[in-house]
Amino acid sequence: MTDDKRGMQRGLTTYGDAEFSVFLRKAFIKAMGYSEDALSRPIVGIANTFSGYNACHGNVPDLVEAVKRGVMLAGGLPVEFPTISLHESFAYPTSMYLRNLMAMDTEEMLRAQPMDSVVLIGGCDKTVPAQLMGAASAATPAIQLVTGPMLSGSHRGARVGACTDCRRFWARYRADEIDDQEILEVNDQLVPTAGTCSVMGTASTMACIAEAMGMMLPNSATAPAVLAERRRLAEMTGTEAVRLGTQRIMPQQIMTQQALENGLRVLLALGGSTNAIIHLTAIARRLGFRMDLESFDRLGRETPVLVDLKPSGRFYMDDLHRAGGLMTLLRELRPLLHLDAMTVNGCSLGENLDASPEPWAQEVVRPFAEPLYPEGSMAFLRGNLAPNGAIIKQSAASQTLMQHEGRAVVFRDAEDLARRIDDPDLDVGPEDILVLQRIGPKGGPGMPEAGYLPIPRKLARQGVTDMVRISDGRMSGTAAGTIVLHVSPEAAEGGPLALVRDGDLIRLDVKNRRLDLLVDDAELEQRRSALGSSQASAPMAGYRHLFMESVLQAEDGCDFSFSAPTPTETVPQP
Ligand code: FES
Repeated sequence: MTDDKRGMQRGLTTYGDAEFSVFLRKAFIKAMGYSEDALSRPIVGIANTFSGYNACHGNVPDLVEAVKRGVMLAGGLPVEFPTISLHESFAYPTSMYLRNLMAMDTEEMLRAQPMDSVVLIGGCDKTVPAQLMGAASAATPAIQLVTGPMLSGSHRGARVGACTDCRRFWARYRADEIDDQEILEVNDQLVPTAGTCSVMGTASTMACIAEAMGMMLPNSATAPAVLAERRRLAEMTGTEAVRLGTQRIMPQQIMTQQALENGLRVLLALGGSTNAIIHLTAIARRLGFRMDLESFDRLGRETPVLVDLKPSGRFYMDDLHRAGGLMTLLRELRPLLHLDAMTVNGCSLGENLDASPEPWAQEVVRPFAEPLYPEGSMAFLRGNLAPNGAIIKQSAASQTLMQHEGRAVVFRDAEDLARRIDDPDLDVGPEDILVLQRIGPKGGPGMPEAGYLPIPRKLARQGVTDMVRISDGRMSGTAAGTIVLHVSPEAAEGGPLALVRDGDLIRLDVKNRRLDLLVDDAELEQRRSALGSSQASAPMAGYRHLFMESVLQAEDGCDFSFSAPTPTETVPQP
């Protein structure tokens, strides 16, 4: 639905008399101290996602003030409003379960309230995708602002940061390499400031992708949350939002097919989070595009990993910022990018690159010819175990396990895993393949980040640090290992993953992009018949009911089926 009206005239509450609706609206908002002059200005909404539970958004109040300043400098009226805020560790059962709720909240608040444009302040993993999904559906001129990464901390003289080091130290604690006292000390240092995780996890990945797609100001993805530069970027974002609203530049004009492809290229070259492919698929779907994961894999074969950040590499986000930010990477990727894609500052990606400072010597972003990993970070797999696909982050996997055949050790769900993984009597060896069922979009529910199965304690104590692990769930972008994720269809939907039994042989062949269960079809059919009668569903109500009825599989971005029309075009282009 388009609305040509401006400012306070937009999206009127229905009383059957439009002039009365404006009259009443103004009467109420004047109680906030606004004058007629203020109310006649272009209105910039500011989506405020501050929450006392969300340290990744701890600087949002400062950013809101800076955005307001920028809006007013450009002659607009800023009006902040709240939406849901999601933090990874404070979202039961998992933040992904709530991403679509936040997207709906954002979409409907953009529609419901009068604004000519909106500044979306997000940061923590699910917030940026939810906001971009909502803005795409609401078709409101929008500009993204991220809270920025936290600084890294220090433990006994060594740099540490959330959350790759959270997992690394926890694995050492499980292996009895460090004691109770030291793990407490580490806990104090992992998150030393407000801001998003300090490695190339999902939040950093989505920030870089949003910039690469043109939805954020140039070089605004990497500035740490606590720097003055972050607030200057917020001020500039507010100013730009007034122009976007005045010129009615829609997200559809920025997030085009070319822009989405630029986002995919950057995802691959970053060694970014596997979660981002689900989010990009969902954003693309809202814009009318189906993600073609085979074509994505083709992009991966020609896009090397260039960014040396944890969990695939050595550095932290503040290092990337000091190395010139995302522009340093975009410069290296230039021949692969659509340079004429338009961005929110009114310039094309190529023009922004031309206007960026000259490069300087740095170690964080490798030259194109000297990559950290020769192909993109992710490979798309298919096979009889994943007819609709699965993903592996090959850049963070053990090269010795990329072609591997092993005996399955199966866990029925997350509770079964928690109960048995450290059982000294568990029949498991280093060559086995750990399989976790029923943590997909419906099985989790919400596809929790439980795909990073811990190494069984008795093997960890023997020095085993990696094994092939397979699930229909996700893993944190801050994790690493030979981990196959997003197996589709999921086990809870009766996908072949549900049919795997202890002792079955599984073959992972990343080179040929295959994932196969080496069990004959007749046996699988027999298991499927037995499965059909054993599945029962519990009664559901409220959001849970909506979620379970409507959530789609990973290849559709786990969006709700009703959130967008069936896509008519594909991205990337075949
Ligand atoms: Fe918020 Fe990592 S927990 S970005």
